[in-house]
Amino acid sequence: MNTALYYFSGTGNSLSVAQSLNTLIKESELYPIIGCLKQKPVQIKAQRVGIIFPIHFMTIPCVVKEFLTEVSFLHPKYVFVIVTGASPKLGNTLSQVEKYLNKINVNLNAAYFVPMIAAHFPYIRISKAKDTNEIYKAAKEKVIEISLNIINQKNEIDKEFSVVGNIKQLISKEAKGNQNHFSVGEGCIRCGYCMQVCPFQNIRLHGKQVQWLDNCHYCFACLHFCSQSVIQYKNLSIGKPRQHHPSILLNDIALQRDI
Ligand SMILES: Cc1cc2nc3c(=O)[nH]c(=O)nc-3n(C[C@H](O)[C@H](O)[C@H](O)COP(=O)(O)O)c2cc1C
Ligand code: SF4
Ligand code: SF4
Repeated sequence: MNTALYYFSGTGNSLSVAQSLNTLIKESELYPIIGCLKQKPVQIKAQRVGIIFPIHFMTIPCVVKEFLTEVSFLHPKYVFVIVTGASPKLGNTLSQVEKYLNKINVNLNAAYFVPMIAAHFPYIRISKAKDTNEIYKAAKEKVIEISLNIINQKNEIDKEFSVVGNIKQLISKEAKGNQNHFSVGEGCIRCGYCMQVCPFQNIRLHGKQVQWLDNCHYCFACLHFCSQSVIQYKNLSIGKPRQHHPSILLNDIALQRDI
């Protein structure tokens, strides 16, 4: 059965999961959600379909909502989501996915959660395991398990979602970014990495300034890939570590603009 894996990723965690699955599942192909949305209508021909993305502010990122609103499944047989984040227990990530799929009469067969480094501030590294390598190793092992379940088309909702995953929570209104929340501290060398990496082309270098435009999706790629770690988010990121997935490069994130 052919498999299509659709992904969105800012700091590479979800992309690393998508890439691993792509190698573990035969006849599968990777598609960036951002690139696909540039070529509407989005029609999925594959029978087995996976959607892989991070939790943002206790819910699904805006761009994933847009994708689920625009997409049509032509021959869905088995549909799954894989969510990366610190914890899915707070918020409505799973119920939101179900809501959007229900609207287009598509059944969600499986949902999995892969714990990763929390890329947002001030919570970076609040995940259960403190050692970052431990987190990546555990994630890799979980993805292998998930791939077997997907190959066998197991119907399953990860118990990680179970506690309060479907209870309505107060969801932060911050899901779409605000350009005034970013600033550049001393030490910018104008390397342009931030501009290059932004999957939404939302940054430009103008004179001596780095400017954020009005289409930020808070993926935080710019912060974590800045060569000098001088980009700040409000005053929450000062003195905090920067961390993107070790196997994912700046270009891998930038390339999701294209299909
Ligand atoms: C703006 C923002 C908000 C986030 N909010 C949450 C959250 O509410 N709950 C959570 O568990 N993780 C949250 N995270 C952490 C991410 O879900 C996690 O780091 C994820 O693995 C990042 O995936 P990516 O590298 O593919 O973008 C947030 C990250 C960002 C950037
Ligand atoms: S990536 Fe960092 S150092 Fe490079 S231009 Fe952007 S803000 Fe400046
Ligand atoms: S400006 Fe930064 S946080 Fe906003 S979408 Fe671009 S890379 Fe992501």
